[in-house]
Amino acid sequence: MPVPPAPALFTFEFAADPYPAYAWLREHSPVHRTTLPSGVEAWLVTRYADARQALADTRLSKNPAHHSEQAHRSGRVGIPGERSAELMTHLLNIDPPDHTRLRRLVSKAFTPRRVAEFEPRVQQLTDRLIDSFAERGSADLIHEFAFPLPIYAICDLLGVPAEDQDDFRDWAGMMVRHAGGKRGGVGRAVKRMRTYLAELIHRKRAELTAQPLPGEDLISGLIRASDHGEHLTENEAAAMAFILLFAGFETTVNLIGNGLYALLRNPDQRALLQDALRRGDSALLAGAVEELLRYDGPVELATWRFATAPVTIGGTEIPAGDPVLVVLAAADRDPDRFDGPDTLDLARRDNPHLGFGHGIHYCLGAPLARLEGQIALATLLTRLPDLELAADPDDLRWRGGLIMRGLRDLPVRFTPGS
Ligand code: HEM
Repeated sequence: MPVPPAPALFTFEFAADPYPAYAWLREHSPVHRTTLPSGVEAWLVTRYADARQALADTRLSKNPAHHSEQAHRSGRVGIPGERSAELMTHLLNIDPPDHTRLRRLVSKAFTPRRVAEFEPRVQQLTDRLIDSFAERGSADLIHEFAFPLPIYAICDLLGVPAEDQDDFRDWAGMMVRHAGGKRGGVGRAVKRMRTYLAELIHRKRAELTAQPLPGEDLISGLIRASDHGEHLTENEAAAMAFILLFAGFETTVNLIGNGLYALLRNPDQRALLQDALRRGDSALLAGAVEELLRYDGPVELATWRFATAPVTIGGTEIPAGDPVLVVLAAADRDPDRFDGPDTLDLARRDNPHLGFGHGIHYCLGAPLARLEGQIALATLLTRLPDLELAADPDDLRWRGGLIMRGLRDLPVRFTPGS
């Protein structure tokens, strides 16, 4: 049979539904060289087995200095607006041994226990946001719910004072709008965030020196964290706080947004979850969030990797210096790994999805993301049980940045006063 023509990538239609294009790539060109919208040439890896292998391959470096074109200098690779030297040295841009040292330090401060203790606070934030629109009978769940929740949560966890958190909401908004193609304020937003975090760290360090009592927040934990007597420098701590904010907000916005949308489009699965929640059975909830991460996860492509030597993946040789993007969203729909991959099955048992990555860069914030995702979805479906989409799905707009994919808005209606 003749091979159907290659699909167009990174178009408007692709952002709305990239899965047919990913199916084509998996089948006909699983390790595919393409030109990204920024003009950078890169390889896309779309099969599950190849994706896992690539994510764990130590010859694929995270350090943009290994890119043959050095495109990071022009801001064409990496995180938008993140060109300052101080912010470059964060976990997603470095390799061992620096990565091992910094990850160990932050892991001491960002423990699963600290996250678990945060549960009542996430519940409180979730209820407060729902209270703000519950009487109205309608809402835009991206702007009024999915977007503010992770920002306030991560600000709280880091120890950003309540009166400054709306500034973060504004800066984060500017960064997300950039992902939609408007470059405008992103550099300014990153700069303000950076300056703010540097000052906050400086202030907290002075406070901790004056009175070395255990501060409960993560920034105090980062400042105190030491590794064989070696402390994080203030620059490293600022880069770490920045990457926690950056990695932790738009991802979680999209987990809640894409997840809710998938539930609204699959009424049988949504009914299954609502029944379980009504019975007080929370076992399905945890698996449901994992399945939503697999089915339409927030991170479409893992962040950049660069071949430090010629590397063969899926039978294709990638030359040294070339960028490699592992397409998590394509791998997680691979029929060679998942039964009925295009079906949302909240009770799926065998689900080793790659939504949080794999290997040494596996998502550090996964426990927090799971906590926020579970509380947000369970509370919304319990408090607003007749929630329904208030727009034609074809009219919804998707934000298709290179790394992440999510809805710009999610209008819903429901019986007011819940
Ligand atoms: C790394 C996904 C939420 C912090 C990653 C990676 C993925 C990912 C795929 C690996 C990227 C790569 O290998 O190139 C997600 C998803 C989230 C989420 C889907 C939400 C549903 C969070 C949160 C935080 C966070 C809430 C922190 C507050 C990080 C950090 C890394 C990371 C620091 C870098 C780890 C390293 O390089 O060692 N995340 N993430 N993430 N994530 Fe998340």
